Amino acid sequence: MSANLTFDISRNPNPMPPAERQKALEHLGFGTLFSDHMAIIEWDAATGWHSARVAARRPFEIDPAAAVLHYGQEIFEGMKAYRNGEGQLVLFRPEENARRFNASAERMAMPPIPEALFLEAVEQLVRVDADWVPAGEGASLYLRPFMFASEAFLGVRPSQKYIFSVIACPVGPYFSGGAKPITVWVTEDYSRAARGGTGAAKCGGNYAASLAAQARAYEEGCAQVVFLDAAEQKWIEELGGMNIFFVFDDNRIVTPELGTILPGITRQSLLTLAREEGLEVSERPYAFADWKADSESGRLREVFACGTAAVVASIGEAKFEGGSLRMGNGAIGPVTERLHHKLTGIQRGTEADTHGWVRVV
Ligand code: PLP
Ligand code: COI
Repeated sequence: MSANLTFDISRNPNPMPPAERQKALEHLGFGTLFSDHMAIIEWDAATGWHSARVAARRPFEIDPAAAVLHYGQEIFEGMKAYRNGEGQLVLFRPEENARRFNASAERMAMPPIPEALFLEAVEQLVRVDADWVPAGEGASLYLRPFMFASEAFLGVRPSQKYIFSVIACPVGPYFSGGAKPITVWVTEDYSRAARGGTGAAKCGGNYAASLAAQARAYEEGCAQVVFLDAAEQKWIEELGGMNIFFVFDDNRIVTPELGTILPGITRQSLLTLAREEGLEVSERPYAFADWKADSESGRLREVFACGTAAVVASIGEAKFEGGSLRMGNGAIGPVTERLHHKLTGIQRGTEADTHGWVRVV
């Protein structure tokens, strides 16, 4: 039944006035400005997916006993719609988000959503809120598909009711310093994910668990946390909201292998682009001790983080309890710059999309 759902589209009767919206789109940060509409699809055990609609953005009404409020059964995705040079609205590898959403759903004992339905919800919202897709360089419409357990029930078992929704947020740079290299805090106190845990799933709980470390990072003047593995506190895993890459003086690139980290779509895309550039890429464990030693010896030339929200962010400095490491001369390195340029070029339509990664809405 769910594959053939028709979306009911009802326009927001009180959208933001065009002049006000235009003004808001000229000063974009990240995550505070929202479009006029939202997509919603509901699921219950008896009916499956039903009641697909796009409607005015408004608060949910949920029962105080809704399972998500107690046990955190929630997953989400992050993707962007871009306006390319020809004025078309495009998405970047949205099928990968649909696939990862379902992998997260499976890990969190939630119902999978047919990929076509996920994509249609996203595309319907982008069409209805097309005027909210900003055109400036580095600006895009960030899309946040998410699903939460809405059944009112306090026993600990998978919910029998869920709400899937998509909201949209015009965004500029994720970091307030724009493209300037960021400073990161390497935490040796907190872990993000352990084997058998939920590290590879995009569930809210992972981010809730990262916040104490993130608060410490802010206190230390850092923009993001680098997490080490939970078992040995030795191996670099990823940042709170991004994957990480290391570039060496012989043009080798290393990024931690999958397992307890989020399988980033940007990570995967950059691995492909780097290989095409003739760089030798390996997905393998990399120890924090080696990061220190390779910085000191000068073998490590560039470090960068990547993800949908932050795109490619050069890491200029890493701080940790009792010390810090500076990367290169503090400027964005040439490999980071090249990969960033190539990726955003494909997303914006100024570079050939040889992999079929771009989907016109
Ligand atoms: N790692 C974490 C923990 C994230 O939250 C994200 C962002 O989605 C990423 C990595 C990067 O993933 P992607 O490139 O698919 O956005
Ligand atoms: C994304 O990059 O889409 C994320 O979900 C990361 C989040 C920290 C904004």
